Amino acid sequence: MPFARVAGTGYYVPPRLVTNHDLMRYYDTTEEWIVERSGIHERHFAEPGTGPADLAVSAVEMALADAGLTPAEVDMIVFATLSPEYYFPGSGCLLQRKLPFRNIPALDIRMQCSGFIYGLSIAQMYVQQGMYRHVLVVGAEVQSTSIDFSPEGRTVGVIFGDGAGAAVVSATHEPVGILSTHLYSDGKYAEELTIQEPTSLYPGKVGHLPLGTKPHMNGREVFRHAVTRMTEVAREAMQAQGWQPGDVARFIPHQANKRIAQSVAEQLSLAEDKFYINIQKYGNTTAASIPIALAEAARDGSVQRGDKLVLMAFGSGFTWGSAAVIY
Ligand code: COA
Repeated sequence: MPFARVAGTGYYVPPRLVTNHDLMRYYDTTEEWIVERSGIHERHFAEPGTGPADLAVSAVEMALADAGLTPAEVDMIVFATLSPEYYFPGSGCLLQRKLPFRNIPALDIRMQCSGFIYGLSIAQMYVQQGMYRHVLVVGAEVQSTSIDFSPEGRTVGVIFGDGAGAAVVSATHEPVGILSTHLYSDGKYAEELTIQEPTSLYPGKVGHLPLGTKPHMNGREVFRHAVTRMTEVAREAMQAQGWQPGDVARFIPHQANKRIAQSVAEQLSLAEDKFYINIQKYGNTTAASIPIALAEAARDGSVQRGDKLVLMAFGSGFTWGSAAVIY
């Protein structure tokens, strides 16, 4: 059975930089509060009319160049997003028409902040079963268009950003790559982090549900579960491979909040610098956050070929998961 290696990575964020000071135009907030509570200094917002598939194009081009492949060689797209352009069809199909891919399957998945880990797991299975040689896993989000810029929106509004990340997962006979993935969900917390409308529950699609069209987040509850679950699932990935924490070159957590990553590091008795953190520049980019971090870490020297990595995520659903990877 072949192994499923991360052959290339790429990322892209839209050019419009939004600082904490910029957000003070809308919210009763301060630079100090945002930095202290989340670690975020700035994020990028897409221009109106730009969707996740548009942002994904540059990330995918970078990942394909890194892997030495052309779009025509890709066998499948797995596209994770919670902010698709359309109710249907999915962003994967929109990406498929933007580059010279063949008529390959374009599978959209959601899974929110855990989307990229779920996507890696899907890619791993197709590649290891021998069905496809090169699977493109994309995480891309345009969340700025659903942010509530009224005063009530400040807790959620300061956290999220737009961006895209991509990884090419390719077959190899070397014993490297995605060695195991560990995926979970617990739907009893579905309403703790949600945008509920448009909905298929009632005719008309909006104006029916109590939490409505704006993002709703129970920040404290999300924080508490994120620390517990990301710690558990990082341990599980290491145990599955017989790795000690000291064997792992870098942990790449979903960039939800710097304090969440610090608490997970503490729970695992690890120095904070074992964790790759770039939330200060991008905010929480949901499904894009891990592939952006991985691509950036691979370029700034934080991650080298042959390194043992643990990637882990937690998000709306609740969903969570991890991947043990030899890069
Ligand atoms: N600026 C200033 N004050 C703010 C604020 C803002 N942007 N947002 C909230 N506050 C206020 C609250 O109103 C509250 O005031 P009060 O004590 O007078 O009621 C106070 O700050 C504390 O609010 P709280 O929500 O308890 O803050 P917190 O320490 O939990 O931090 C988050 C808020 C959102 C940063 C934090 O809960 C968090 O990161 N949660 C996880 C979020 C996450 O990861 N989401 C994505 C999951 S993948």
